[in-house]
Amino acid sequence: MATPDPRGDIFIQPAAYADQEVWHATAAELRREAPVLRVEEEGYTPFWAVTRHEDVFRVARDNEHFLNTRNSVLGPDAQFEFLGTLGIEPSTLIHMDGEEHEGHRALANDWFRPRAVAKRQEAIDQIATEFVERFRASGGACDFAQDIAVPYTLRVIMSIFGIPQADEPTMLKLTQGMFGAADPEYLGDLSDPITLLTDTIRQFDEYFQGLSDERRAHPTDDLATVIATGEVGGCPMDHHATLWYFTIVATAGHDTTSFALSGGLEALLRRQDQVTLLRDDPSLINNAVDEMIRWTSPVRHFLRYLTEPAVLSGVEVPAGDRLLLSYPSANRDERMFEDPMGFDVTRTNANRMIAFGGGEHFCLGSTFARRELRTILPKLLEATERIELAGEPEWAQANFVGGVKHLPVAATFH
Ligand code: HEM
Repeated sequence: MATPDPRGDIFIQPAAYADQEVWHATAAELRREAPVLRVEEEGYTPFWAVTRHEDVFRVARDNEHFLNTRNSVLGPDAQFEFLGTLGIEPSTLIHMDGEEHEGHRALANDWFRPRAVAKRQEAIDQIATEFVERFRASGGACDFAQDIAVPYTLRVIMSIFGIPQADEPTMLKLTQGMFGAADPEYLGDLSDPITLLTDTIRQFDEYFQGLSDERRAHPTDDLATVIATGEVGGCPMDHHATLWYFTIVATAGHDTTSFALSGGLEALLRRQDQVTLLRDDPSLINNAVDEMIRWTSPVRHFLRYLTEPAVLSGVEVPAGDRLLLSYPSANRDERMFEDPMGFDVTRTNANRMIAFGGGEHFCLGSTFARRELRTILPKLLEATERIELAGEPEWAQANFVGGVKHLPVAATFH
């Protein structure tokens, strides 16, 4: 067997993502030299890392030949075996295919359609204003990631869910336990990432069980009631399916968006000419938001499994093997984006970014995510005369969902 290519480490090692320059330089090399790279690492079932936009796009959209199955996020095999023995292996929308997926997705779909999201604009406006004012009240200096981006995006999704503000810190802690298990900052006193993960899943289970019981007894007009009382194919969801439905909506809904906001703002503030462009022409905001999402690509991968052999960028991949779709790499592909390492709010094809995936699993919350950024960004620019970095940002160590976790900024307010 050929010697494994060490460049495959960038997809596995959580710390690799914390050094973005090296990460993107390596990914660019792979796009040129080995766009579909077989990655072998002890303890992991081998996979093929797909790094070009064209290939990621093709695989994401073809849900017949590339399945999600039960294991669509990378992790050590031992972790999944362990979760399996405990009977708590993940089973969310992103782990399903075909009719099972369609039935489950239909349950919450209406809540995420553009028209439904538009109805929430007033509430999002209010929350965004509250956080910009909180920034002003802080004397114009804060850790934008922790003080604004995280609680803002959390508040928006929890308000749709119907989860009380008092429980937001719990949701935050649990999401970080789920996505940031490898980051020493979140590991705390716990001995290892698997313990943190199992602990987190247990706590989510307990919390959502209580919430479900409550909503079944007293239904209200919120997403929690829809999930708690939801039926798929005419039958109520079982305990496991309900738990994971709650979990995916609770976790996918804010960490992703907050990383897009914190990392996007970092990119913007490093280029004050871009800030000026936005201040001069606010109609660029929507495009700027897509550029921020392209630039940050907070979801680093999902996996797909081949139902039959396929050829991608000239590489033959056998049936049954798994592909890792690298969204951050695809979003910096020079075949799709001119000067991909540049951050440009006027980029004409920023909306070709593939950070939300594609096909049947296309991000359920993309309209919310875009709207949250489109709402707070102009408010921030309007309220300030100047806003700039006030220290070195710090990146999360995570190979699934991650980005800038600390962003010191300073602003002069009007
Ligand atoms: C910038 C922010 C976000 C990014 C980059 C992002 C990215 C993604 C990606 C890449 C996928 C998988 C797509 C695929 O497999 O083709 C996904 C799925 C999903 N996202 Fe997001 N997401 C974001 C925000 C949100 C928000 C705000 C929610 C709200 C709850 C959300 C909920 C979901 C759900 C439920 C799925 C599973 C959909 C399915 O499998 O049918 N996401 N997201």
